[in-house]
Amino acid sequence: MKGIVLAGGSGTRLRPLTKVTSKQLLPVYNKPMVLYPIETLVKAGIKEILVIIAPNNAGDFLKLLGDGEDYGCKISYIIQEKPEGLAQAFTIGKNFIDDDNVTLILGDNLYEDDFSADIKNFKGGAKVFAIHTKDPERFGVVEFDKNMKALSIEEKPKAPKSNYAVTGLYVYDNSVIKKAENLKPSARGELEITDINNLFLQEGTLEVAFVHGKWFDCGTFESLFEASELARQKSLNVLK
Ligand code: TTP
Repeated sequence: MKGIVLAGGSGTRLRPLTKVTSKQLLPVYNKPMVLYPIETLVKAGIKEILVIIAPNNAGDFLKLLGDGEDYGCKISYIIQEKPEGLAQAFTIGKNFIDDDNVTLILGDNLYEDDFSADIKNFKGGAKVFAIHTKDPERFGVVEFDKNMKALSIEEKPKAPKSNYAVTGLYVYDNSVIKKAENLKPSARGELEITDINNLFLQEGTLEVAFVHGKWFDCGTFESLFEASELARQKSLNVLK
C-alpha cells in the first residue's frame, strides 16, 4: 500500500494566513498541520509516501519533511501546477503508485483514529470513511438505504440526503489510476473524488466505513481553531 498526502490547493478561506505560507504548514497547536496526516498514514503501516504540493512554498515542505526519516517513512514530492481537483492525485501520482494499492489523505484532515486494520485487511475496490456532521453540504454526502447500504454520493449538495460526509481518507485498488485518467472535470472545473467514488459504487466495490473518534477538516478558521484545541488537550493529556 502506497500513501499520498494531498497538500496543494489555494487555501483561500484561510486568507490572510495563507498569503504567506501554505495552509498545510500552518500550526495546529504545536506542529505544522501536514504532520498529522503523515502520522495517520505511518500509524496505519504505510511507509512510502508521496506529498503533492503547490509550486509556492515547496521548499518549506522539503525543509520540514526532508526524506521522511524523522517521521518513520520515505517521502517523495511532486508539484501540482494548478489545483484542478483531488482526483488529479492519481494521474500526477501514477508512476509513484505503480502497480500498488493507494491510500489518499488530504493534507488538512486530522483524525483521532487508527486505520491499521483497514489498511492491512484491504482486499480491493474502494474504502471511504464517513462521519455524522452538522454541515454536510460542505462535503461529499452519502445517501444510505434503511440497512445503511450506500446508494449514492453527492458532492456539496444544496439539499443533502443525509448528515454523513465522506472525509478526506480514501483507500483504493490500482484501478483508481484508470478511473482518474478517464474523468472529465465537473461544472466547477475540478476532477472530483466523488466521481471516482461513484464509479466504485456502481461496480459494487465501494465500502463506506465510519470514522471513530474526532475528525477535522482544517480549512476554515473555526475548524482550525477546534483542531488546535483538541491537539492541545491530547498533547497535555487533559482529555476527559
Ligand atoms: P480544499 O479545502 O477543498 O481547497 P483549498 O485547500 O484550495 O482551500 P479553499 O477552498 O479555502 O481555497 O482542499 C482540500 C485539500 O486538498 C487541501 O489539503 C488542499 C488539497 N488540494 C490539492 O492539493 N489539490 C487540489 O487540486 C485541491 C482542490 C485541493
